Amino acid sequence: MTGIDYSQKIPNNVDLAGDKRLQRALEAWQPSYIDWWQSMGPTDFNQNEIYLRTAISVDKDGWAHYGFTRMPEYRWGIFLNPAEPGRTIGFGDHLGEAAWQQVPGEYRNWLRRLIVTQADTEPASVEQQRLLGHTAPSLYDLRNLFQVNVEEGRHLWAMVYLLHTYFGRDGREEAEELLQRRSGNPDHPRILGTFNEPCQDWLSFFCFTMFTDRDGKFQLLALAESGFDPLARTCRFMLTEEAHHMFVGQTGVGRVIERTCEVTKEHPGRDVKDFGAIPFELIQRYINYWASSSTDLYGAEVSSNSANFFGAGLKGRAYEDRYSDHKALEQTYELDRYTDGKLVREIVPLRNAMNEVLRDEYVKDNQKGIEYWNRICEKAGVDFRFRLPHRRFNRKIGDYSAGRFDLDGNLLTEAQWNARQADWLPSEADRAYVKSLMKPVTERGKMAGWIAPPPKGVNDTPVDYEYVKL
Ligand SMILES: [Fe+2]
Ligand SMILES: [Fe+2]
Repeated sequence: MTGIDYSQKIPNNVDLAGDKRLQRALEAWQPSYIDWWQSMGPTDFNQNEIYLRTAISVDKDGWAHYGFTRMPEYRWGIFLNPAEPGRTIGFGDHLGEAAWQQVPGEYRNWLRRLIVTQADTEPASVEQQRLLGHTAPSLYDLRNLFQVNVEEGRHLWAMVYLLHTYFGRDGREEAEELLQRRSGNPDHPRILGTFNEPCQDWLSFFCFTMFTDRDGKFQLLALAESGFDPLARTCRFMLTEEAHHMFVGQTGVGRVIERTCEVTKEHPGRDVKDFGAIPFELIQRYINYWASSSTDLYGAEVSSNSANFFGAGLKGRAYEDRYSDHKALEQTYELDRYTDGKLVREIVPLRNAMNEVLRDEYVKDNQKGIEYWNRICEKAGVDFRFRLPHRRFNRKIGDYSAGRFDLDGNLLTEAQWNARQADWLPSEADRAYVKSLMKPVTERGKMAGWIAPPPKGVNDTPVDYEYVKL
């Protein structure tokens, strides 16, 4: 049991007290962080008591404590999974060598870039979601939003710990910068595209936690393999919390679908909008938008950076132990590249395709979510079926961003795309309709009319529990 010492300002299992210089650096960063939270975190709910879980250890059973807390008083702690004695590097050119406990000098810049890129997404998502508290469909959902927000805050802490501890002065500068970039700010944006997209309604929030947090899952799985041991251990623990974020997304969209199924059955042949539900086709367009945007987060299909990161032992594949060859030097990867206006089958060295390998795992995982949603339709006896857009659809990054593709990945002309695009992506009218539904429901146990209740409450509480004391 690696418990935390609540007498310390920053809960941790990294013996912060034993490193006074580091402790002081983090304690100096903490007020800037709180300032950021107050100005860029959830608006107006900082005085309310909320039923939140807090990480208190890294034990498999009982790592979290549930209780009422005000968000600014949340104990954002630093937790690493326990070290595996004798751990060796599991892939790349340094396969079998002892895992690094310090930053290897020759890879310092690459490693810092990987950590900063991951770190930047954490505060970004809090910024994107800051207004959603005002339109939550229930207290249960309001609490889940804040749970996700405080944990993204903790993930920022986790990454800042690495920057402060292992990267000296430039690490401290990066940590400051993380509190200065702003989601969607044209002059000083967050690093990755999706994290600058507005997320202003709850259907977007559920799609974001389904598809964008799931990108986070796979980035963390790849970094959890890192030869830089502190990064690997940090990411492993972050994955524990991340699972809940994807649960919020998958079941959130699922409950919207369930409600639409109910209305469809109660009023056959009628427009579900007349009864305040969200049409299946509209939900599908939101899925298309967020899934395609999040698919971009893996970067270009063929990438020398991905080869470098893998070769150096910094970023592996998700579930690296499922593979038999961890050097990936002799193998190849086959894909359809988009060149000169057409798709051409190409074989590339596997290391250069590591972004695509990670994206493959992501697509598979997304597909499971789609199947979960279709089971809801099936159970309700409704014919509509959801689908995942093809990875080539609506891309802004990589090969496919240069062309136009339909939901099945077929190449389209610009004219064909223009003619069909409104069927595939949310229109202004879609967004306006969803927005019109965004009215807060704050009575215990009550749900907005566009979403079904969850089957059970948080941590064995009843669904009508007073999750947020307003
Ligand atoms: Fe996170
Ligand atoms: Fe997350």
